[in-house]
Amino acid sequence: MSDLLLTHFQSAALDLPNRVCMAPMTRGRADNPGHVPPELEVEYYTQRATAGLLITEGTHISPRANGWENVPGIYTPEQVAGWRKVTDSVHKAGGRIFCQLWHQGRISHPDLLGGELPLAPSAMTAKGVNAYLRGGYVPSPVPQAASLDEVHGMIGEFRHAAKCAAEAGFDGVEIHGANGYLVNQFLSGQSNQRTDEYGGTIENKARFLFEVLDAVGEVLPAGRIALRLSPSMNDMQGITIDPELNATFDYLVPKLSRYGLAYLHFLNPMKPVDDVPWAVADVAKHYRPMYEGTLMINSGFNFESGNKVIADGFADLVSFGRPFIANPDLVSRFRSGKKLAEGDKETFYTPGAEGYTTYPSAS
Ligand SMILES: Cc1cc2nc3c(=O)[nH]c(=O)nc-3n(C[C@H](O)[C@H](O)[C@H](O)COP(=O)(O)O)c2cc1C
Repeated sequence: MSDLLLTHFQSAALDLPNRVCMAPMTRGRADNPGHVPPELEVEYYTQRATAGLLITEGTHISPRANGWENVPGIYTPEQVAGWRKVTDSVHKAGGRIFCQLWHQGRISHPDLLGGELPLAPSAMTAKGVNAYLRGGYVPSPVPQAASLDEVHGMIGEFRHAAKCAAEAGFDGVEIHGANGYLVNQFLSGQSNQRTDEYGGTIENKARFLFEVLDAVGEVLPAGRIALRLSPSMNDMQGITIDPELNATFDYLVPKLSRYGLAYLHFLNPMKPVDDVPWAVADVAKHYRPMYEGTLMINSGFNFESGNKVIADGFADLVSFGRPFIANPDLVSRFRSGKKLAEGDKETFYTPGAEGYTTYPSAS
């Protein structure tokens, strides 16, 4: 099999030297009161600029979107200025970078929200799910059900954050619709029991997502907008795949084709789903025929399986998360066949350079 991951990718929206993309990864280095990405982030992303496309860590779209300590934001002028240094440096190094727009919804805690409760589709706790705070995990409380005005407000926050991302020089934005966070919370009956136009039927549960896309589309061309979805999550952040959620994805994925997105970014299930009859184990294979547009797939891929999913025609791009933590030059290591280094889990989310910018390139 040829090394398809290392080949050029061209679409109406993207022109990438290779198909090895860096998956969004929270790293918790913005340990300052304004949630501004520090200089350290400039170095971190620039070290990885040979990726076909970099996707930033989940980046909060407003103060109330926060649910994880030391995550940067993309809603104030200071944050825009901080990100501008990142995008300028990545571009100077020949790279391309999208900003992942993140609202955590019910996966948060009042201590991260100035005493306010997390805002969510319904007042339903994500059972057994924790927010990340003071270097450890604390249980998420019962969230506050968003009023209709607050729902519209959150949609507006995505629009504002996308505008800020454009001002900061990002090549595009990726809306975080996956892994049990706000957008995903609207999609599932396990977190959405609303009785207005944002709940009840499948069409209503998908409305929030489409209105976010429309709002972001008011400030960015479609080719600079991407979306991340995890259709087969099995017990992840308080949401698990069920027959209705499965039907919801089958409803919404074909509709996404008409948006002309830069890419649709799917996650494969993180846990085995062999014993879950309605779960899709091979997400790219299942959704490829339903979606017209660029498809990126993620989770657990290596060089061989990444080449295969492209050769099989199921995906155009593959994103790698953990491999990029300890291998800033992942593309070059794939090319030369060099052994990959292992990242240290202890420093995944800890402030400072250690375990962040300290991994060397092999050459
Ligand atoms: C340290 C860490 C932080 C992560 N943060 C995010 C995030 O902010 N947004 C997101 O969508 N996924 C996040 N993920 C999930 C990754 O994007 C990816 O889906 C996961 O690591 C599986 O891909 P991999 O097998 O290539 O690592 C994170 C994963 C890790 C390991």
